[in-house]
Amino acid sequence: MSAIILDGKKLAAKLEEETLGRVMQLKEKGITPGLAFILVGEDPASVVYVRSKNKACERCGIRSVTCHLPEDVTQEELEETLHKLADDPEVHGMLLQLPIPAHLDEARAIACIPPHKDVDGFHHVNAGTLVNGAPGIRACTPLGIMDLVKLSGVETRGKHAVVIGRSAIVGKPAALLLLEADCTVTICHSKTKDLSFYTRQADILVSAVGKAGLITGDMVKPGAVVIDAGIARVDGKVVGDVDRASTEPVAGWLSPVPGGCGPMTIAELMVNTVSIAEADYAE
Ligand code: GUN
Repeated sequence: MSAIILDGKKLAAKLEEETLGRVMQLKEKGITPGLAFILVGEDPASVVYVRSKNKACERCGIRSVTCHLPEDVTQEELEETLHKLADDPEVHGMLLQLPIPAHLDEARAIACIPPHKDVDGFHHVNAGTLVNGAPGIRACTPLGIMDLVKLSGVETRGKHAVVIGRSAIVGKPAALLLLEADCTVTICHSKTKDLSFYTRQADILVSAVGKAGLITGDMVKPGAVVIDAGIARVDGKVVGDVDRASTEPVAGWLSPVPGGCGPMTIAELMVNTVSIAEADYAE
């Protein structure tokens, strides 16, 4: 047996095509969805991510603007830029690319993004609605993870989902979405003792750490859905947390890196942007 590969690239292309259709409908009503990127400094990975997100906007007919601020920008200058975009009616969504330089206060900066323009779902209001089970904007990688699980066709209700990683942008929100989907959820992290004790129980295993080779086939329950949300570089190559060679013969479904959560994250960002523009029109 070999795992069925969950093709995130193909699913993302389908989501983007649907998004383009929704954008066309909005344009007929005189509205062009707009997404603003705020990039601080020259972190090479961030520069590449923002470029990829801009290209996705082009494919989906979304107007994008990038505010590229210098590495030594002050907190006040960053907040001034965020407030300006917050007040711009043509900007439906705003995204502060993370990480930002250490001298800046990330939480204070994110708090300057109005919750209804927070396409990333990082604002404490959106994080709070996720905890409370109220409507709100959800983070893009966790949304992509859920759509990949859905693609497997596996019923989530009553299943044991194990999430490795407790970041505010992937691990925690992914765990809460799996809980909302009626899974029994275990969250593991760097201080977890005997990680494989938990991973071997997982019907759905989500790894969001960024450590190449963290998950090997002997740690996986036969037939499990394995979602690799990790990203690392080994010898210049992008790899995930899952050792594919040993895991593929054991898992039932596997999302690869590259071609799994990466393209899904970008597609979900496009969906979130258009949903915000539609809600704005409906008001
Ligand atoms: N840095 C790494 N992933 C993300 C993301 O999804 N959104 C933002 N804003 N920054 C990131």
